[in-house]
Amino acid sequence: MDEIAKLKQELKQINADAANIRNMPAEKRADFGKEINRRRQEVLARITELEKAALDATVSPIDVTAWSGINEAMPDFYSTELGSKHPLMSEIDRVVEIYQMMGFDVLESRQLDDEYHMFDSLNFAKEHPARDGYDTFRTEENFIPPAHTSTMQNRALKAYKKNLDEGKAIAVVVPGRVYRNEDVDATHEHTFYQCEGVYVSRDCTMGDMLGILREFFEKYYEQKLNIRTQPGYFPFTEPSLEFMIEKPKSLGGKKGDFLEMLGCGMIHPNVLKMAGIDAEKYHGFAWGGGIDRLVMLRYGLDDVRHFESGNLNFLREF
Ligand code: DAH
Repeated sequence: MDEIAKLKQELKQINADAANIRNMPAEKRADFGKEINRRRQEVLARITELEKAALDATVSPIDVTAWSGINEAMPDFYSTELGSKHPLMSEIDRVVEIYQMMGFDVLESRQLDDEYHMFDSLNFAKEHPARDGYDTFRTEENFIPPAHTSTMQNRALKAYKKNLDEGKAIAVVVPGRVYRNEDVDATHEHTFYQCEGVYVSRDCTMGDMLGILREFFEKYYEQKLNIRTQPGYFPFTEPSLEFMIEKPKSLGGKKGDFLEMLGCGMIHPNVLKMAGIDAEKYHGFAWGGGIDRLVMLRYGLDDVRHFESGNLNFLREF
């Protein structure tokens, strides 16, 4: 076994030892904790040093300005052995899996969209100030990096419309990366992830929606939760709600500490019509909320900027 693999095993052992701190007499914990931290830092530093040396030895610098032929041999890239899945990607897998267990299909979002999908198809009136609320970026050609995953609603409805003709419901979730031109701080990022849900059938109700959302959050946080809603406003739902969960005790919450997790509501008839669905015959509900926030609560993270930072020390925690 090479030295890096050995060190990684040692790190696992250190983490296992750290978990044992609970069983130690209180007066020994501080020293024990310090010692564990010292060992961990030492091992991490050595791993970083070895990995860097390995990279420097094998990877020649890439000239990013050079012409590249798609039929030519690939340049040397960093070995994928050294990397791991980004925590947000693993959490998205987990989110999607929970919805799949409930019978939802999954669609992929996109990174560049247009005015129609960002606003018009979602029943935003032309020149309506609500359009400004989304702080969209725009390219010179007037394309829009999506500011929410709701841009996919019209596509999801059209793609699955045939389900309704076959007497089945439309049930789709769409995870995706979204962008907003806002000031960045510990709770705001210009780039983050959301997951959208869309459900349409002949006879679904708001009660079904709340049941699905409760089920999702209880599965995700692996415990019973108190939920609450309050009225919201979105042009694409009527009525619109904000969905909140009480921050669980096990995650540092106090009674009455409600956190807003997503926006939701009954799909506005105009949104159904724009996808060619008979809004007299069918009803639907939709929801969308941030994934970063969901994950931060699960792991007790205090700064959303970690996710996009590329900071290896942060990534190694997962
Ligand atoms: N797209 C909204 C946002 O990012 C959230 C949202 C609200 C999505 C209501 C929905 C919905 O699908 O029905 O603020």
